Amino acid sequence: MTETTPAEASWDTAPNLLDGAMNLTLTPQDCNLRYWLQSVPLGTLRGRVDGYTPGLPIPEYMRKPGPLYDAITKEYAFRAMAEEKAARVLAYLVPVAPDIDSMEFYVTQVLDEARHAMVFRGHLVELGVPQVHLVDAMEEFAGADRRTILDPLEDFALDVMRDKRDFLGGVIVLTVIIEGALAPAAELSERKWRMLDPAASEIDRGAAIDEIRHLTVGAAVGRQHLIDHPEDKPRVLAIIRDGMRLWEELPIPDLLQRREQLFQQGMAQYADVVGDYEIWPGRRLVDTTADERQDASHRWSTDMKAARLRYMGLAEALT
Ligand SMILES: [Fe+2]
Ligand SMILES: [Fe+2]
Repeated sequence: MTETTPAEASWDTAPNLLDGAMNLTLTPQDCNLRYWLQSVPLGTLRGRVDGYTPGLPIPEYMRKPGPLYDAITKEYAFRAMAEEKAARVLAYLVPVAPDIDSMEFYVTQVLDEARHAMVFRGHLVELGVPQVHLVDAMEEFAGADRRTILDPLEDFALDVMRDKRDFLGGVIVLTVIIEGALAPAAELSERKWRMLDPAASEIDRGAAIDEIRHLTVGAAVGRQHLIDHPEDKPRVLAIIRDGMRLWEELPIPDLLQRREQLFQQGMAQYADVVGDYEIWPGRRLVDTTADERQDASHRWSTDMKAARLRYMGLAEALT
């Protein structure tokens, strides 16, 4: 048995989130507790307990009041809240998981999401938010968005996972609706903060490596379950439709627009730091607009979701 870190979990060789989530196949049998112990604490996280290389300095301009500070604090507070909610909600999948491998996998995902919340909160402290005021500060940065976006999503997920104890439904809610839609924002963040706040970008990179596993294993669980129980398909399609309808009603485009506008203003002030860095091949970050970045993340989200739905045999949900 090999004891080296698998390529998809190694910091240096893992693909980016888009490639990994669209092209890798991982199952709960691959990613059980033993895999996780070997790959994550001893692999991805080795030497990066706080999510990034220790000693990586936070540039002074990131701590100064202004649009860049507002952009990062609002974004990271919101994402810390989202990760915390994900950890709490998906814990309900553990008692209803049908076999040992999937039970162990969801235990590890609970830990991963709790850890993501921890490192996002940690970055807020690094940015100068006093630890003792962290909860209040996060509420100030992102409380309104939590109420309008995260709380309704949480209620939707709790109904399926906690109240109905629907394992397959919960896996689908997580894989298609919640993570599938939040993951592209993580990919965008990793790219856009790379020059301005390298620690933030590393935190995003680490979270993205975990998200590859969450999305691919979730999709594999859904696919296998539907092969074994095709009679469950109508129920799952109904959950996806309800989830997508809810998603459409949430003011997420408005949040992303505000986030990118703040980033745009902040980037303009520190364009020299960003330099010629390309956010994607052939496109300098400094030349991008808020709309362009938002469109890219929306496109990634749509493409990734479509690929996963087709893989699970749920292409009908796309029409
Ligand atoms: Fe996460
Ligand atoms: Fe995740």
